[in-house]
Amino acid sequence: MAEDLNIIKGSKTEQYEELLPQITAIIEGEPNLTANLANIAAALKEQFRWWWVGFYLVDSPEELVLGPFQGPVACTRIRKGKGVCGSSWEKEETLIIPDVEKFPGHIACSSASRSEIVVPIEKHGIVVGVLDVDSEHLDHFDEVDKKYLELLMDYLPWSN
Ligand code: SME
Repeated sequence: MAEDLNIIKGSKTEQYEELLPQITAIIEGEPNLTANLANIAAALKEQFRWWWVGFYLVDSPEELVLGPFQGPVACTRIRKGKGVCGSSWEKEETLIIPDVEKFPGHIACSSASRSEIVVPIEKHGIVVGVLDVDSEHLDHFDEVDKKYLELLMDYLPWSN
């Protein structure tokens, strides 16, 4: 696997277009889920410098548990339907939250977080976890992030 990430300059689309093949090269051939999720979180953090990026994994029919992430310490468990992560899981859709203070029930793991995107990870039609990204800037995420993060989550081999 590639050992160093090539940091990309340019538009957000250009950054994703060059980053995603690097990430897939890093995780290709590695069956261990924890290792792959850890490297994905690290690569996204290194490229985009987001405040927090990581995974919550379905731990029981009603609860997510914290997975590999990059950023400040975060809440460990989130109930289905709660917060942005639990809502994304329940609705089985990506949620873009331009201002977390305006999202009823938002779970504030960090007071610095201002906007957020959560992408569900589906395997065989069932949500197995979510990718959660937080920014310290308002309105930081858009349809470009949604498109590429969903592509990346579709690619993820899930061997848990
Ligand atoms: N804000 C999330 C909780 C997770 S932290 O942001 C890392 C939510 O409302 O689900």
